[in-house]
Amino acid sequence: MSGRLEGKVALITGAGMGQGREACRLFAEHGARIIALEIDEKALADTVALVKGEGGEIAGFVTDVSDEEQVKAGVEGGVAQFGKLDVVYNNAGVLWRDYDSSVVDTPRDHWDKVIAINLTGVFLVLKYAVPHLKENGGGSIINVGSISALVGFSRPQDAYTSAKGALIALTKSLAVQYGPDHIRANIIHPGIIDTPMQAREMAKPEWVADVVSSIPLGRVGQPRDIAYAALYLASDEASWVTGAELLVDGGFIAT
Ligand SMILES: NC(=O)c1ccc[n+]([C@@H]2O[C@H](COP(=O)([O-])OP(=O)(O)OC[C@H]3O[C@@H](n4cnc5c(N)ncnc54)[C@H](O)[C@@H]3O)[C@@H](O)[C@H]2O)c1
Repeated sequence: MSGRLEGKVALITGAGMGQGREACRLFAEHGARIIALEIDEKALADTVALVKGEGGEIAGFVTDVSDEEQVKAGVEGGVAQFGKLDVVYNNAGVLWRDYDSSVVDTPRDHWDKVIAINLTGVFLVLKYAVPHLKENGGGSIINVGSISALVGFSRPQDAYTSAKGALIALTKSLAVQYGPDHIRANIIHPGIIDTPMQAREMAKPEWVADVVSSIPLGRVGQPRDIAYAALYLASDEASWVTGAELLVDGGFIAT
């Protein structure tokens, strides 16, 4: 074990499934202690048990990232337990295909809910986490965008896309504001990743074949593909990397 995050404390949201769970496992394998925030109690318990079973240190907090009191309790509870904060990985997000569509078809409350989780949730986590990063003398913020924020998609999910696009701007603002505090802020844009978020689509062989035909590397991504990108950004190897957008999509956007 190379311990690329040895001694660090990393907060990861949406830790119960998919990319968040994989990041908890990989970060812990590399020596980080994990503060796991997740809305789904059972999924959180499973991630905590998995990481502990693999010898990692992790504290789980049932948290809806769009609820300020819960976010505050999760961030403060985690920092109280591990004594500091080095990394904030804003991974939680929802892509509800039947709920969020074009601007003309999306009910106002659906728009508000998607924005509340995918954008306001990041704001709330940072509101409580950044003071701890400052107190720590620096750290790494990792936001999660999407390839859908970089190109227009033929099947619109306008609230999702808007939230992810706003995170690009927020990431750059954070990088500029907090560079002098040695806090870095970067954003990863995943391509199509095989997680519970894509389970319904991944179950359709024709959909998978169509998507894969547009991916030069010839496969959809796995959660670990993104976790390794996040591991790099979390580590001191990326100590001169801030305000960056890291595309991890098998070449999809390059076509
Ligand atoms: N899977 C993809 O193809 C893909 C592509 C581009 C971007 N992304 C982004 O990657 C990130 C991770 O997605 P994933 O594929 O692992 O999704 P996923 O649905 O498999 O996992 C997301 C996790 O976030 C949790 N979550 C949902 N709402 C929450 C809330 N309000 N508060 C706290 N936790 C909440 C879920 O319970 C789940 O554990 C998301 O931000 C997503 O938008 C995913």
